[in-house]
Amino acid sequence: MLSEENLKKIEALKPRFQTTQALTLPVLWMIQQQHGWISSEAMQYVAQLLNVPVSHVYGVVTFYTMYNQKPVGKYHLQVCTNVSCMLNGGGELRDHVCKRLGVKLGETTSDNRFTVTEVECLGSCGTAPMMQVNDDYFENLSLEQVDELLEKLN
Ligand code: FES
Repeated sequence: MLSEENLKKIEALKPRFQTTQALTLPVLWMIQQQHGWISSEAMQYVAQLLNVPVSHVYGVVTFYTMYNQKPVGKYHLQVCTNVSCMLNGGGELRDHVCKRLGVKLGETTSDNRFTVTEVECLGSCGTAPMMQVNDDYFENLSLEQVDELLEKLN
């Protein structure tokens, strides 16, 4: 499930931690980077690899929104609607993105290009409203800027 390269990285990380459980987050991240999401089979694989209970891995995956629990499109649009973003138009931004792409929250467009999710604070409150696209932040967004961004991603 993990590439040889990633397995070597894990071995290199092990001496830096007192327990293999501490490697749960980075190993899950490697899985997601390789496969795009974390399946239940992947959770079992990680549990076996790190010799930790599957319930621990499941708890981590379901706690952090950065882990995708189902496949996402080529572009994963994560719209923050926590307090600062909501006060600065995050709700309108979320609704606009969904309407423009013709999807509901959590859904992926039929061409598999875009998945839209609503997320809690992404730590960029001073530049609200904002949205994360894959690993990149887009901040101080107006609806017009979102339209331009979606055009570029098409
Ligand atoms: S409230 Fe949106 S980044 Fe913090």
